[in-house]
Amino acid sequence: MKKNNYFSFQLIDDKLTFLDQTKLPFEKSYIETDDCERIAKAIEKLEIRGAPAIGVAAAYALALSIKNSIKEKINSTFELAYRRLSNTRPTAVNLFSALEEMEKTYIQNKNTDNLYGVLKNKAIALHNDDIDKCHRIGKNGLAIFKKKSNVLTHCNTGKLATAGDGTAFNILKMAFEKGLVSFVYVDETRPLYQGLRLTAFELEQNEIPFSVHTDSMAAVLMKEKKVDLVIVGADRIALNGDTANKIGTYNLAVLCNFHDIPFFVAAPTTTIDRTIPSGEEIIIEYRKKSEVLSHRSMSIASDSVEVFNPAFDVTPSHLVSGIITEDQVYLFPYNFIK
Ligand code: MRU
Repeated sequence: MKKNNYFSFQLIDDKLTFLDQTKLPFEKSYIETDDCERIAKAIEKLEIRGAPAIGVAAAYALALSIKNSIKEKINSTFELAYRRLSNTRPTAVNLFSALEEMEKTYIQNKNTDNLYGVLKNKAIALHNDDIDKCHRIGKNGLAIFKKKSNVLTHCNTGKLATAGDGTAFNILKMAFEKGLVSFVYVDETRPLYQGLRLTAFELEQNEIPFSVHTDSMAAVLMKEKKVDLVIVGADRIALNGDTANKIGTYNLAVLCNFHDIPFFVAAPTTTIDRTIPSGEEIIIEYRKKSEVLSHRSMSIASDSVEVFNPAFDVTPSHLVSGIITEDQVYLFPYNFIK
């Protein structure tokens, strides 16, 4: 099988073709749609996931809503689609910044004959921008390697999670190609297994040596001095550097602090929320209890069990050694106001 031959989504013949990530790694199943509601559902169900990917996919969904609207109803169609997409997932700020960018383009062009064409081009520009940002994050991230390293990562931050080649994952990939990474340790990332199912898939595709462990095993790996560096992605970064990312990230940051291991966050500047001073203001998504109580649709505990299921946690910035963006590697204390 040809390696690395997959993409998260692409606009093909005015339809969004996306890879259903809930079926990975067993099935590479692409879904083709020009229906905004179907794309909103895909984001909710994590068929499309990862902060930058959600933002760009939502931009395409908004454009497609206009393609399918009759001229007289364009205003209400745009408003409804905007609201529907805003309500899919609350934490990743990329969703909201992409929708706002699309809204600006809509307001400036709403009387244009070819409104769909203009919105489509804006969504394509956001897509290309993410590709470029991922590339620059990968290059900037090389600076954090002081020696050939074993790196631990959490969740999935690769091609599947972005419109480009990934954030933290792209750093791993580019560093591996330069001989700076010897091995990758992957947190399985309960409850939805983004590490076990998706990062493992992407590492295999790139022929990078790795192993997977359950999230609770990271401490032992660190104690045994197997981990030189941790790099993760982000869903929203506050102005002081507090970082929301997949649940379990905060545990890792605390462990790194205890074991004196550098803990880096990699994200495009589109993940920085310049309206919030600290992580206190970040809205955390809570998901349904069946995600914890079942495994591949099979119950593994009684349905009567109470469940705590936040999808993200916030790591305080003093635990973050550096934030790698497409512009530069920021070091604590963070100050993103330019
Ligand atoms: O719930 P998910 O799978 O969308 O969560 C994804 C993450 O937490 C990623 O680490 C983050 O979005 C960065 S992706 C480049």
